[in-house]
Amino acid sequence: MYSFPDNFLWGTATASYQIEGAVSEDGRGRSIWDTFCHTPGKVFHGDTGDIACDHYHLWRQDVELMARLGLNSYRFSVAWPRVQPDGAGPFNQAGLDFYRRLLDYLAEHGIAAAVTLYHWDLPQALQDAGGWTNRDTAGRFADYAQEVVRRLGDGVRLWTTLNEPWVSAHLGYGNGIHAPGVADLSSAYRAAHHLLLGHGLAARAVRSVMAPGSSVGITLSLSPARPASGSAADVEAAARVDGYANRWFLDPVLRGEYPEDLAGLLRPLVGEDHVRPDDLATVQAPVDFLGVNYYFCQTVAAAQGAPLPGDQPFPDFLRAWGRPSPAVPVTGKGWPIEPEGLTQLLTRIDTEYGHLPLYVTENGAAFPDYVGPDGAVNDPERTEYLDRHLKAAHDAIAAGADLRGYFCWSLLDNFEWADGYSQRFGLVWVDFKTRERIPKSSALWYAGVVSRNGLLPGE
Ligand code: FCB
Repeated sequence: MYSFPDNFLWGTATASYQIEGAVSEDGRGRSIWDTFCHTPGKVFHGDTGDIACDHYHLWRQDVELMARLGLNSYRFSVAWPRVQPDGAGPFNQAGLDFYRRLLDYLAEHGIAAAVTLYHWDLPQALQDAGGWTNRDTAGRFADYAQEVVRRLGDGVRLWTTLNEPWVSAHLGYGNGIHAPGVADLSSAYRAAHHLLLGHGLAARAVRSVMAPGSSVGITLSLSPARPASGSAADVEAAARVDGYANRWFLDPVLRGEYPEDLAGLLRPLVGEDHVRPDDLATVQAPVDFLGVNYYFCQTVAAAQGAPLPGDQPFPDFLRAWGRPSPAVPVTGKGWPIEPEGLTQLLTRIDTEYGHLPLYVTENGAAFPDYVGPDGAVNDPERTEYLDRHLKAAHDAIAAGADLRGYFCWSLLDNFEWADGYSQRFGLVWVDFKTRERIPKSSALWYAGVVSRNGLLPGE
């Protein structure tokens, strides 16, 4: 039996724009994702989050579903434009009331809440003033975060400032695959800095008002970077990708500095005028925990000669290609399945960045699920994926990491950003015509893991 520590949090994760729908109800303002989805050609199939899983109306049934699965925690995000429509100025009581009711109902069912304050749905009004490339957005975010915590405070176990600032900066402002759709390296690094600054300001602001028993941290997307071969060129390319994907965020948050190897490469390209002298001390605000989102490793080759088909382009300045081994199986989204990367990541953070409490705030996989003739959704690939990753998490605990919880991405099939509804990550199937929910076989398996607080060896 692979037993997990006492009081381990077992949950699922979601994000506001991916599940809520109700984009024009009860005073919600517009977000950059509303604009992006309604711009032709941006999202697969022209899908939008206008209705999504209709969680804004079906939240009671979703909480009851979690309770039936025996989950003891739930990670969700607050939609900034639902509670502060223009990202500055007045708050919208109806929006706050929605989250208050949700928190109360979770508490009634003994489910601890982990609340993300920013999972990418920036108010459009702030984007109109430059969004995250504008330094002012960092201050706006801290003000919003503090007010939300003041008003919703009770009953939240974990407050997370940002979800995956790497994705916000690089997909939102670097290659434009995500909202707001800007494709410019310099904008990506300005955005990354202001996101980090916003995190630091918000972490302090939240701490000053949060209820006893709450903690505050940040969630980062992290990917171990491995050289595709033992050649010096590949090893160096992997180190650059590690700087880009991991250390650019871990180092400022936990050490108060940017990694000099990557900073040296970037300086001539993007300048540093957006970084002010005291900023990094602000970014390094004390955090009570780190949230880790893990999906895959990066296998990196030095860019030389002609790219092979399938080489994923990193920004040119990295002179690196992503070259996963064809022998590694992939999920429905094409992401390599490498559970040992999770062990490596958690133990690395523990040894290199201090023995701080860790949560896996996201991990999961999309597969082309379908409803069988008997009405059931059987997804053994997802069960196997989760089983292997949970064993990998257990290995990290055995090696000393202070891992305190695991949130499977996701509770429900939902709006998967630029992929629209084409990628199903849920433990629970959603019919996007009727909004019916059907727990998949992986959900029932996960419920068993939670009830035993561990995995059976043969599973
Ligand atoms: C992460 C996001 C989450 C979801 C998963 C699949 O990067 O945080 O919203 O889209 O990927």
